[in-house]
Amino acid sequence: MVRDLMTSPAVTCGADDTLAAAAETMQRADTGSVVVTDDGKVVGILTERDLLRAAAVSGDPGRERVRLWMTARPDVLGPDERADAAWASLTSHRYRHLPVVEDDRCVGVVSLRDLMGVARIRPAGETSGEVPAGLEGVVVAETTVGDVRGQEGFFHYRQYPAVELAETRSLEDVWYLLFRGQLPDATASAAFGEDVRRRRTMPPGLATLLPALARRGAPLDVLRTAVSVLGAELGWRPTHDIGPDELAEQAVALCAVVPTILAAAHRLRAGLEPVDPRPDLGFAANYLCMLTGIAPSPQHARAIEQYMILTIDHGFNASTFTARVVTSTGADLGAAIVAAIGALSGPLHGGAPSRALDMLDAIGTPERADAYVRHAVENGERIMGFGHRVYKTDDPRSLLLRSVSERLGGPLVEFSQSVERTTVDVLAELKPGRRLYTNVEFYAGVVMHTCGIPREMFTPTFAAGRTIGWCTHVMEQAAHNRLIRPAARYVGPPPPQPVPLP
Ligand SMILES: CC(C)(COP(=O)(O)OP(=O)(O)OC[C@H]1O[C@@H](n2cnc3c(N)ncnc32)[C@H](O)[C@@H]1OP(=O)(O)O)[C@@H](O)C(=O)NCCC(=O)NCCS
Repeated sequence: MVRDLMTSPAVTCGADDTLAAAAETMQRADTGSVVVTDDGKVVGILTERDLLRAAAVSGDPGRERVRLWMTARPDVLGPDERADAAWASLTSHRYRHLPVVEDDRCVGVVSLRDLMGVARIRPAGETSGEVPAGLEGVVVAETTVGDVRGQEGFFHYRQYPAVELAETRSLEDVWYLLFRGQLPDATASAAFGEDVRRRRTMPPGLATLLPALARRGAPLDVLRTAVSVLGAELGWRPTHDIGPDELAEQAVALCAVVPTILAAAHRLRAGLEPVDPRPDLGFAANYLCMLTGIAPSPQHARAIEQYMILTIDHGFNASTFTARVVTSTGADLGAAIVAAIGALSGPLHGGAPSRALDMLDAIGTPERADAYVRHAVENGERIMGFGHRVYKTDDPRSLLLRSVSERLGGPLVEFSQSVERTTVDVLAELKPGRRLYTNVEFYAGVVMHTCGIPREMFTPTFAAGRTIGWCTHVMEQAAHNRLIRPAARYVGPPPPQPVPLP
């Protein structure tokens, strides 16, 4: 109730008082407004804003009268109104103070600050501490999709450890888990697998347009445009206007066709004919087949499937957060995923696996690793594929991918392990206490290369699986939506300043 949170009695002054006297009253009471009364009745309200206005125009507060500068007949509240009515009144009219009137007499005043105190929120300019740059560690939502526990080197999808899922389940099962919230039994798994396999073909409008797009851009850029085209061709409506079933249907269609778009974009760019999707192959095997034109060995297919499972989702990274921000406006699925792809394309987010492999090329032989790493670190450079913002211990994705690469074998695998050992030692010596280990990108590059994926397709391959994670977050955001609209601290020249005449 307003009665419980108002300041009482209100600080008052008369309409014929001078502005200087009113300002002094406010200062003494440490308040931002004064209620103007006449015989106990409210006739106006004078705020700091009015004083500033008066000072800018008149410059003589000792002579100016309150009557001229106050807001006459202000909106008022009753003491028995609910606090949320007071909140609505204050925020919709952008008032900061409202007098409280009972039986025609002023009994108190309610300020925005009082209400914020009750709601335990603070205006942006008065945050309890600085929000860290990059929002590091700031909780911005609740999610049931999964989480990353960096100190423990652990991450999970729903309630299951992601690494265990990658070790034991198919990508389609994990996809089902994310979309439906539970792992499928054998019957549901087969039905879902069947359903997604028949959705792999691009719709005709997009298929016709793709060769022209592929000639003009790298596969990830082509994907970004293709998702826009797909949304338009399939008539996707704003998430604000559709229910969860329609959105889930669109999401399944999108995730199923993304590998087809990427593989075709790659082949067309290389002057090759696209390869049709194969309904007899799983998600990863079919992707490899469409990319290379050859059905992959079961070992290669499983290795890429495990890589994709491990990278399907990973907390509130930049692209996932982007997808959720766009969804929070009620925009359609295509808009959210296009924005997420845009965020992923930045080198600080999606671009490291090919760089880690470039580094292995530059090192060349195991004996040169020590000198290479030492020289790079001493010159202030970063060793690609090492260090992580969240993991300060072994990245669990890297551990599994290292064992996947061991299973695959080959000269690059032994070499990369030797470089890893040397690099960890040199970093521990040159950057003591920083806890720098391999991140997902180091062995991802090794695994993808060994399975025949060209370097320019490393980040697009990541996107092929991550689209499932993005879509899961879009559905969660749409189901419990609130517009994401943070605040910024203004640090420019102090306003208001008079606008210079032209
Ligand atoms: C991933 C990454 C951006 C995380 O960085 P971060 O959490 O912001 O860590 P910081 O930049 O605060 O680094 C902390 C310290 O470790 C050092 N460091 C971190 N990663 C390093 C790396 N790969 N090589 C050498 N030194 C590194 C920094 O130089 C810094 O040292 P200082 O305290 O002497 O200044 C960073 O480790 C990195 O650039 N790695 C290489 C790129 C990469 O592999 N990206 C893929 C990420 S999945």
